[in-house]
Amino acid sequence: MKILITGGAGFIGSNFLNRFVPRHPEHVFLNVDCLSYAANLKSLEAVSGLSNYRFVRADIADQGQVETLFREHEPELVIHFAAESHVDRSIAGPRAFVMANVVGTFNLLEAFRQLPDAGARLFHHVSTDEVYGSLGPEGFFTETTPYDPSSPYSASKAASDHFVRAFARTYGLRVRLTNCSNNYGPRQFPEKLIPLMILNLVERKPLPIYGQGLNVRDWLYVDDHSDAIWAVIHEGRDGETYNVGGNTERTNVAVVETLCRVVAAETGVEPDELLGLMHYVKDRPGHDLRYAIDASKLCDACGWQPAETFESGIHKTVRWYLDNDAWVQAVRSGEYRGWIEHNYGGRGAAAKDDA
Ligand code: NAD
Ligand code: DAU
Repeated sequence: MKILITGGAGFIGSNFLNRFVPRHPEHVFLNVDCLSYAANLKSLEAVSGLSNYRFVRADIADQGQVETLFREHEPELVIHFAAESHVDRSIAGPRAFVMANVVGTFNLLEAFRQLPDAGARLFHHVSTDEVYGSLGPEGFFTETTPYDPSSPYSASKAASDHFVRAFARTYGLRVRLTNCSNNYGPRQFPEKLIPLMILNLVERKPLPIYGQGLNVRDWLYVDDHSDAIWAVIHEGRDGETYNVGGNTERTNVAVVETLCRVVAAETGVEPDELLGLMHYVKDRPGHDLRYAIDASKLCDACGWQPAETFESGIHKTVRWYLDNDAWVQAVRSGEYRGWIEHNYGGRGAAAKDDA
């Protein structure tokens, strides 16, 4: 089968390709990525020489590039990861999110529906639990929770989800969607909470925690997310949405404390020295309080279960960042330093009512 992957040079897409390209020589994986700041071709070194892997640099927001790509390759399966993915960046500059996430998804769907025998092919859309907005202290997101996005990022992902479903109903396309909770693991760009904290810990830099640090996320190891997508493609049903989550709720403070202890143990440092780096900064505007996923539909329909616990996954992740300095240096370009200055430079300490 010809599989077109978008965004395969980013965090989740590259882990997906590292997992499935070597295992499935019977499929050809075509990775389409514009190589934004969040991409790193070093993440693909293990698969780039394999005969069932190809890379094409293209921007999905460019209609002409997408049309050419689909005409030339006629994929039987599209797995759509590509997106602008960072909430803080969407607050600083939302336009890029509309272009990549809304226009990009629309261009893919338009090109997909014009393929010969389009109704026989499958479009898998990778989305987020952030489309559902924020939970209070109780309850879980299910597939029927109404959409209520808070950030420009989540609004753009919600719009992309609606386009996918609308194209299925209107043009009879086969689509499936997965809405997943927070991922962590190797190869994640160090703007996101977990890799940012690991690298700051290694360099003994302050650990900036937004607001009071009591926001809750449901963490899932990236390979478990990849397995969930693969399971839905093979065992799921057309037109259906599946929520994906790790049943691993943690406050941000608890996550950062765990990282301090694991990095301390792995590097032979006293935990108190690292815990002392935690500091509270001005909160993210529109910061969702809590995400928690009910993944029972996916578990029942596709037999999926997460394999990794938070503790085992965090150990693997910390070890990966300690062992892969060349990868880390490759992504910490001038652009990265500019972002860190922009996002954290003006935050200062948390205001009295935040902390
Ligand atoms: P990422 O930012 O690490 O990677 C995104 C990739 O998409 C990059 O390689 C980038 O170059 C590429 N890309 C961006 N715009 C593009 C464009 N216009 N044309 C072509 N390529 C483009 O993101 P990620 O964390 O790997 O997320 C992948 C997908 O999973 C996204 O759709 C995201 O919404 C979704 N998701 C992420 C998480 C998470 O915790 N990271 C959780 C649930 C869902
Ligand atoms: O829920 C799925 C989503 O998870 C994905 O759709 C997004 O692509 C992904 O980025 C992630 O969004 P979050 O905003 O939850 O992830 P982030 O790592 O940016 O932040 C996690 C939590 O940590 C959040 O409550 C904000 C907080 N945080 C984040 C950073 C970067 C801090 O306290 N300090 C920080 O420096």
